[in-house]
Amino acid sequence: MKTDLNGKRIVVTGGTGGIAQATAQLLLDCGAEVIVSARTDEKLEAALAELTGKATGFTLDLLDPSSIKRFFEKVGTFDHLVTPASTSTLSPIRELDLASTRTLLESKQWGQMLTAHYALPYLSETGSITLFSGTVTQKPLPGSSAFAAVGAASEAMARVWALELAPIRVNTVVPGVIDTPAWAGLTGSEDAAKETLAAIGGSLPVKRAGMPIDIAKAVLFVIDNEFVDGISLVVDGGHRVI
Ligand SMILES: NC(=O)c1ccc[n+]([C@@H]2O[C@H](COP(=O)([O-])OP(=O)(O)OC[C@H]3O[C@@H](n4cnc5c(N)ncnc54)[C@H](OP(=O)(O)O)[C@@H]3O)[C@@H](O)[C@H]2O)c1
Repeated sequence: MKTDLNGKRIVVTGGTGGIAQATAQLLLDCGAEVIVSARTDEKLEAALAELTGKATGFTLDLLDPSSIKRFFEKVGTFDHLVTPASTSTLSPIRELDLASTRTLLESKQWGQMLTAHYALPYLSETGSITLFSGTVTQKPLPGSSAFAAVGAASEAMARVWALELAPIRVNTVVPGVIDTPAWAGLTGSEDAAKETLAAIGGSLPVKRAGMPIDIAKAVLFVIDNEFVDGISLVVDGGHRVI
């Protein structure tokens, strides 16, 4: 596919994760230089070994602001920022799991905010930022209130930043249920994840759960189309309409 991304430098946080890894690979396939992150040197090495193309990376922990700052000092100037790295947790409000819920809020909401903050001195004025939400902001799922809250925050931040940071474009991608390693953690095991994804996928109009490449293609669209700004792009196989 012909894009304007050949030779661009693009940061994708995460790289060991399902959506981040697929996004990094699709952008590499378009000729971009992609800089990924991982929490440890071992994970970074493993993530880079999976990617083909001009991929580099540095360690970054979203729970440690100084590590985010150091990450961007090492990256230097670049063209586009994509921020899928985050933890995941489901926890009904009565039985709230304080530790994992707080980590979700800190890694995803605060994490994306700090990532943008520390990235901006190095981000091209003709570039873009792509944040991550989730369709639970619009399709309530029991246990997902923290997810819904951080997702809504991402979408709200993106609209504000689209004005504040213009001409830098800022958009949010809003994934539905996507088959990634996050689901084994959410359901307790890989088998339970398979069952859950098959059940939800079967109930969707498109008759399957999403795959990381479905979201990677949406990220590519919002980065590459220079008339797209301040939007929340839902990619959910029709989940909201059932
Ligand atoms: N999968 C879905 O169904 C779904 C649905 C809606 C929205 N989303 C959103 O899409 C995005 C990507 O989700 P995913 O399913 O691809 O997630 P994933 O497979 O669990 O990957 C998450 C990535 O984030 C990294 N990460 C976690 N905590 C971190 C921290 N403290 N510092 C730095 N990196 C950290 C992980 O690195 P490690 O390897 O070090 O853990 C991993 O690379 C998230 O924002 C998620 O909320 C996903």
